[in-house]
Amino acid sequence: MSRAQQQFKPIPQTPPALPGNPATPEKVELGKQLYFDPRLSASHAISCNSCHNLGLGGADAEPTSLGHRWQHGGRNAPTVFNAVFNTAQFWDGRAKDLEQQAGGPMVNPVEMASPTEHVAEQLKGIPGYGVAFAKAFPGEADPISLANVDKAIAVFEATLITPNAPFDRFLKGDAGALSPPQKEGLALFMDKGCAACHNGINVGGGMYAPFGVVERPGAEFLPPDDKGRFMVTKTPSDEYVFKVPTLRNIALTAPYFHTGASWDLRQAVAVMGSSQLGIRLQDPEVTRITAFLDSLTGDMPKVTYPDLPPSVATTPRPQP
Ligand code: HEM
Ligand code: HEM
Repeated sequence: MSRAQQQFKPIPQTPPALPGNPATPEKVELGKQLYFDPRLSASHAISCNSCHNLGLGGADAEPTSLGHRWQHGGRNAPTVFNAVFNTAQFWDGRAKDLEQQAGGPMVNPVEMASPTEHVAEQLKGIPGYGVAFAKAFPGEADPISLANVDKAIAVFEATLITPNAPFDRFLKGDAGALSPPQKEGLALFMDKGCAACHNGINVGGGMYAPFGVVERPGAEFLPPDDKGRFMVTKTPSDEYVFKVPTLRNIALTAPYFHTGASWDLRQAVAVMGSSQLGIRLQDPEVTRITAFLDSLTGDMPKVTYPDLPPSVATTPRPQP
């Protein structure tokens, strides 16, 4: 247990504070409304929750998400649960935090496809939001801005944490919280080297690594055209480098990998053995490691669906 306590940390019971973006009940509530509001998308059909469904482990159960006009994006949607604990956002880490991340999808043409200047205009056209933004950002002359949308969504996302997983209870000293096979799986996870990359509070989310450190995985898992972090840094050594994803709630978020090409957690574990560690994990080892990964499922946040302020006759209409 003490070896695990050195490498991993439990999820806290309460949301962490975001620097420069204090959470107030009004701001969190506004962020929740925005998270669920499909009118942030051009079609008025797609919300954050479409691709990060809070009932589906904060992901969408698609290999790659369906966005504007049924277009598929290039990557699998990661879970928003516990994303606040990742050191950077996106598979390639191109956003430094949740606030910087939130602006991306609204204006991304294959996701929500709203023209940048339209987001504030849309919200200003819904009278209830005028009131909600004024309460969330008191004293500001023009509170409905893209920057404040990002802030409100980020403080709401910071509440989407999943404490009390069996593994957290184990880390806090309850030796019986893991079953014997789960304990064996944890030992394998540390002994074989998984924990060299998947560690810390999120059992991942804290560093970058090449996918295929030792052996290049098949093209279905690592297609040549997505070079990962290289696209951000343009440094040759960053080719096919990706953020090590969190394994928190991993049993809930199939399919796996940035391609979403694996529907089977056992297969994903075996691929990691060969690609990252150069070992062929035996079936019983895969079984135990997967049992350990099941112990990373925590309490889902209890989110009540918000009442969204109604559109009026002058509210901008959906775009085709
Ligand atoms: C990535 C939140 C809308 C698909 C992310 C991440 C966050 C997030 C926090 C990074 C997670 C991580 O790296 O661990 C949001 C919010 C949204 C939103 C707040 C609403 C404003 C959407 C929509 C779609 C989508 C509508 C699908 C059409 C994706 C995909 C990624 C991603 C594919 C990974 C992209 C990449 O790494 O290049 N989102 N999301 N998101 N989201 Fe969203
Ligand atoms: C992805 C488990 C070792 C780096 C994953 C995923 C799982 C996993 C289940 C899929 C996560 C998802 O799609 O949300 C394991 C296990 C390991 C191991 C059980 C030990 C046998 C490692 C090591 C490294 C590493 C040693 C770093 C050298 C990564 C990276 C990805 C990933 C970069 C993302 C791959 C992609 O681009 O799709 N791991 N991992 N993993 N892991 Fe591991």
